[in-house]
Amino acid sequence: MIKPSSSINHFLNEVNNKIRLSDFIGQFVNLIEKGNSHVGKCPFHNEKTPSFNVNNDKSLFYCFGCKTGGNILNFITKYKNLSFLEAIDYISKYSGISYYIDEKKKPLNSDEKLIFQILKYTNDFFQLSLNNSKQVIKYLRERGLSNEEIKTFNLGFCPDEKYLINFLQEKGFDTEKIKKTDLLIKNKSNEYFGRFRNRITFPIFDFSNKLVGFGGRTIGVSKIKYINSQESVVFKKSQILFGLSQNVDYIRKEKEIFLVEGYMDVIRLFSFGIKNAVSSLGTTLSELQLRKLWNFSSLPYICFDGDEAGINASKKVALKVLKFLKPGKSLKFITIPGQADPDSFLEGKKKSDFTDLKNQSLDLSTVIWEIIKESITTDTPEFLASIDQKITSIIKSIDDSKVSAEYFRFLKAKKDGFIWNINKNQSISYKEKKAESVFENLNEKIFILMILLNNNYLSEFNEEIFEVKLSDEILKKEMKEILRAYTEKKNSFVLIVDSYKGKNPAFYHEMQELQKTHLDNLTIREKNKLFRQILNNLRLPVLLDERKSIQKEIIDEKNTEISNNLLKKYSRISEEIKIIQNKDIE
Ligand code: UTP
Ligand code: MN
Repeated sequence: MIKPSSSINHFLNEVNNKIRLSDFIGQFVNLIEKGNSHVGKCPFHNEKTPSFNVNNDKSLFYCFGCKTGGNILNFITKYKNLSFLEAIDYISKYSGISYYIDEKKKPLNSDEKLIFQILKYTNDFFQLSLNNSKQVIKYLRERGLSNEEIKTFNLGFCPDEKYLINFLQEKGFDTEKIKKTDLLIKNKSNEYFGRFRNRITFPIFDFSNKLVGFGGRTIGVSKIKYINSQESVVFKKSQILFGLSQNVDYIRKEKEIFLVEGYMDVIRLFSFGIKNAVSSLGTTLSELQLRKLWNFSSLPYICFDGDEAGINASKKVALKVLKFLKPGKSLKFITIPGQADPDSFLEGKKKSDFTDLKNQSLDLSTVIWEIIKESITTDTPEFLASIDQKITSIIKSIDDSKVSAEYFRFLKAKKDGFIWNINKNQSISYKEKKAESVFENLNEKIFILMILLNNNYLSEFNEEIFEVKLSDEILKKEMKEILRAYTEKKNSFVLIVDSYKGKNPAFYHEMQELQKTHLDNLTIREKNKLFRQILNNLRLPVLLDERKSIQKEIIDEKNTEISNNLLKKYSRISEEIKIIQNKDIE
């Protein structure tokens, strides 16, 4: 139970503060934002034109057609045909806010009350202790935190437990009471010692801003980097987002939210003016936490560490979230280069460097396709056929039928492109063209440079990039290496221009020069546009050749089914050629 509410009005107020009615009703009714309200077709009567309105400011809905209206409770009672208690329960589960039917029968447990009080005093004490610990403050400074962060996140320090016990006793809590919290741990010889002793403390607040526990980071050498409060009636990890209570106003304003792994990531981002990160204390994401993120933004960013663990955790989240997708609600995934976490990534960088990463984030659907593709290790027919099974299992896990259907379409198209590509690479021999002009070579060089500078290009334009045949022999060899490295390492793959420093100094130097003269002064948008232009230009000869050879095949083919398929291919390629020649790439 997150927060007890004594009356139905209080409960509804809490709910309305936390969630948007349009999000809640949007689970069942397709709503479109119009001015101040969200409009859709009324679920309570049959209609062709939408007259069902949801107003988030007032937290009310109303249908001008059948005159049904009311609050969230009225809606769900009627829509799901629930009893009053069932409806309350439904809303509680969705919002994470509890409602006690009878406060007298089910008061806030006196132990719980006591625990909350002690935690609050303890937090005061930790903060006071930090002021007296120069060494710890020095550590925090070295980690890039100023007083503003220390104050905003109420960072503290936990000294030897005897000081804490003294402090709490002075406030009127005897040891028996303190033992009801998890601030003290009993060791094997039945002695009590402080759970957070000698650690920097990060107070943790729940969704109703109640202090429910702490994280404690070691400053010395300890095998255990962080110790957190224990799971209990008051501390429930799945119902907490660290940083939300401090960052909530900024998040509301920006309508943007980042989910990161660690306490330090949240705080460090804050220090760079990115005051909209929260952490789920690790890499899991519960349904409640997900819904919470969606309350603030339709497209929260998952920004886990760039190491293998972080990348795997991102994939896990991607698969988990499928079940809960709704039209318009999804996630984006930020990849942090060089195995870093947001905190270490920002070392010596600017806010805009993080924004750049954000702008290169991947859609959930792309990540899902990558997961499927990754599992295909060979291109034998059996393996390719297993893609279908994987697609089926993905779309089955999506509860929402509209989203599920779109995913089917998307993944199917990806699969077709994938197979088409393999076939082509195997069957069509491309007549090698000699480099005719310096300009062409320049294009190819910039092409490789851009791939080295922006790792996302390889996954985003995977098929197209693999199609390209470079004319310059040296570049061709380089490209082959890059593509091989990519295929072998897939997601955890990072390319950098720097890697050529020792390997091929001349190439490295040339790339650096090119970067300065051709790329450094472009915005991300311009770079993306340029990349697509070059990519298309490089693909054009391949496509033209291919079209020619299909044309020949069509003429020779006797079997109508095969020639129909060839015709389809022919028109698809022609369409692509037309687009490229018209430079219609925006
Ligand atoms: P990290 O190891 O990435 O921690 O774990 P961090 O926040 O970046 O801390 P620094 O930068 O090393 O100081 C990510 C999160 O996982 C949980 C914590 O919530 C941490 O913030 N964690 C990690 C633990 O609970 N226990 C641990 O021993 C380690
Ligand atoms: Mn970290």
